[in-house]
Amino acid sequence: MATILVTGGAGFIGSNFIKYVLAERDEQIVNLDALTYAGNLANLADIDGEPRYRFVRGSIGDSELVDSLLRELQPDYLVNFAAETHVDRSILSPTAFLETNILGTQVLLQAARAIEGLRFTQVSTDEVYGSADNGERFAEDAAYNPTSPYAASKASADLMVLAYHKTYGLDTTITRCANNYGPYQFPEKLIPLMIANALEDKPLPVYGDGRQVRSWIHAEDHARGIYLVMKGGRPGEIYNIDCGVEKYNLDVVHAILALLDKPATLIRYVTDRPAHDRRYAITWDKIEGELGWTPRIDFETGLEQTVAWYRDNQPWVRRIQDKSYLSYYQEQYGQRL
Ligand code: NAD
Ligand code: DAU
Repeated sequence: MATILVTGGAGFIGSNFIKYVLAERDEQIVNLDALTYAGNLANLADIDGEPRYRFVRGSIGDSELVDSLLRELQPDYLVNFAAETHVDRSILSPTAFLETNILGTQVLLQAARAIEGLRFTQVSTDEVYGSADNGERFAEDAAYNPTSPYAASKASADLMVLAYHKTYGLDTTITRCANNYGPYQFPEKLIPLMIANALEDKPLPVYGDGRQVRSWIHAEDHARGIYLVMKGGRPGEIYNIDCGVEKYNLDVVHAILALLDKPATLIRYVTDRPAHDRRYAITWDKIEGELGWTPRIDFETGLEQTVAWYRDNQPWVRRIQDKSYLSYYQEQYGQRL
């Protein structure tokens, strides 16, 4: 049984990854998470009492804690999910994105060097390639062209991971995935925000003309892809993860309204996100060809299941909609709506 140190495992994708690995694989997991506004132990309630799982509260930026945890665990794998992840928040307040996404990643990389045989997997994003405005799909060797402070911080972290591989011979892999959706996603991102607002008959703020394109993948498919890369990806390599479900934002919003039987009059077109990337699109033949990954959840089924989950788990959403959430909402949408 291998030991995996997961960081940021109380968030949306990290919690999916932990539950997938514990259910399907013979591994043990330690989850290091700072429990920021986005971290939520309720996402992991299903694995309460699981003997192969342990939670440690702390920041990836805390080098003393990270060093001693790695020394104690001597893990086989470290998978770094921990990050500030919301583009709009990175536009409002970029500093935390640099601290966690860049400096925090570097603390992990530096500590990882001291652990014999450790493999480091960085969970990155297709946003590092920027907008694919000419019908193209970016492969792993495409140029970096990040737009938002979030994307720039993730691109910087990727470069640092590659530098540690090249300079110190650290065994690294990087995954870069498209937009995720599914249960347990914090209701600041497009799909859960629109579901949560529609359930309460609140306005749905669509940026600009709503004809930006995002490619959607279920978080469970992403989690399985990360596991395969962690186990079998070639050292120093990058693997895109996507399944090509390209949708206009407006079409996604209409699909949510239809599933909830709510009227399109809830839609409000609001001032666009600054420097809003028009389209994300990446290839995924490398992970398919080398590691046999294929997506299992089609978008229509996954969206229906996700909408039903939020409808049936409104106490989970309400607990998140606390004072700090409402203050963020006011800052982000107050002038727009
Ligand atoms: P999330 O915002 O839901 O969760 C982030 C988690 O990281 C939280 O549990 C939070 O408490 C934790 N965290 C934040 N700062 C920390 C710190 N300093 N130390 C320890 N823990 C800390 O994020 P998510 O959507 O699950 O994304 C996870 C990873 O996947 C991120 O690295 C993100 O860049 C990447 N990613 C996300 C998507 C997406 O669509 N959501 C797509 C591609 C890649
Ligand atoms: O592509 C992967 C990335 O996807 C991840 O790396 C990020 O962590 C994740 O947040 C996501 O970034 P996006 O900016 O694409 O996701 P978001 O859900 O914020 O927005 C999706 C689209 O919907 C985008 O075009 C902006 C638009 N949008 C979003 C919100 C929150 C709106 O029109 N209205 C909104 O209120």
